[in-house]
Amino acid sequence: MKFIDCTNYQIHFNDWKAFEGALLNMNPSTCFIIVDENTEKFCLHILLEHVDITCQIIKIPSGEQNKTLETCQFVWTKLMQKSADRHSVVINLGGGVIGDLGGFCAATYMRGIRFIQVPTTLLSQVDASIGGKLGVDLMGFKNMVGVIKDPSYVFIFTSFLKTLDTDQIRSGYAELLKHGLIADKKAWSILSKVGDVTTLDFDQLVYDSVLIKKGVTEKDPNEKGLRKILNFGHTIGHAVESYWMDSKSPLLHGEAIAIGMVSESYLSYRIGNITETELFDIRNTITRIYGHNPKYLKPKEELIALMRSDKKNYNGAIKFALLENVGHACYDVEVDNDVIEDSFLFYKERI
Ligand SMILES: NC(=O)c1ccc[n+]([C@@H]2O[C@H](COP(=O)([O-])OP(=O)(O)OC[C@H]3O[C@@H](n4cnc5c(N)ncnc54)[C@H](O)[C@@H]3O)[C@@H](O)[C@H]2O)c1
Ligand SMILES: [Zn+2]
Repeated sequence: MKFIDCTNYQIHFNDWKAFEGALLNMNPSTCFIIVDENTEKFCLHILLEHVDITCQIIKIPSGEQNKTLETCQFVWTKLMQKSADRHSVVINLGGGVIGDLGGFCAATYMRGIRFIQVPTTLLSQVDASIGGKLGVDLMGFKNMVGVIKDPSYVFIFTSFLKTLDTDQIRSGYAELLKHGLIADKKAWSILSKVGDVTTLDFDQLVYDSVLIKKGVTEKDPNEKGLRKILNFGHTIGHAVESYWMDSKSPLLHGEAIAIGMVSESYLSYRIGNITETELFDIRNTITRIYGHNPKYLKPKEELIALMRSDKKNYNGAIKFALLENVGHACYDVEVDNDVIEDSFLFYKERI
């Protein structure tokens, strides 16, 4: 069975024996499983078949709107009421919201207890569960409060993806595309040729993508440099996601990042890093999978203002992670405002 060794923990793939063994070895005083209503319905019974010890279930409501300190307070209180101590273990069974929030609760309860990530969405399997970033949103701003702490283990079971909405699969697929574009030209070439992304066999694709994210985050766990390349597509993508969040037609994270990746590929082209052919290949691939949605790149002034307020900036200058070429990325690149506006036009005016 496949696993990846990280500095502080291991990532196992489709290996229930390893899961059972790990839990036994950890010998927890008490064990808690955090779920939401969807992972309770679709994933919990599968997990419980492989858990020999008594576990207590903590259920939180699904959705980004619940990734808050109020939900943490609920989880911390449950842990206390159910006598969690320093030898307890928390299993986070869910997507990125449960992984980020449950991990944060475990990392802070009694100054930190052990936790295991069992990511159940494509996005959380290839992205959120890897790299140790944990946290919650504050006053509508994403991930404003959090810590970086590695789990004891990550267990990825691609069979959980069977019950995931096709829109969620497509959204998570954007992160696989991103990993290819920034770090693995061959992976990009394979991923970009896929016809229907919702009917894929994900075993190998997820493994390869995790390897890319692991490689980047281990070289720079605290995002002082290289880790910033993971933000490719996310400067424009996050602004689009935030601006349209409360509208009648919000975008899923990956759908917004898809738009961001096209526009930021244009920026990479304008600074001379990729060719016109590569640029058109990226735009055609992404619009084939995600459709062409020009309305989301409006209003440009507000989007640029949102980009300026991104917490990753310094002194108000927008710093982009861009492609160095296909399969490599660079970071902290500043681009003139009119070029940013051109990048919106490039996405909008698909011919
Ligand atoms: N920590 C990091 O490095 C990192 C990286 C990327 C994203 N994130 C965070 O991840 C979050 C997004 O994660 P997400 O896309 O997984 O969203 P999510 O956790 O909201 O899950 C999406 C939906 O799928 C449901 N679901 C989960 N597993 C399912 C399954 N197997 N079958 C059916 N339904 C299932 C959930 O209940 C939810 O309704 C964001 O909060 C983002 O900030 C964190
Ligand atoms: Zn992302």
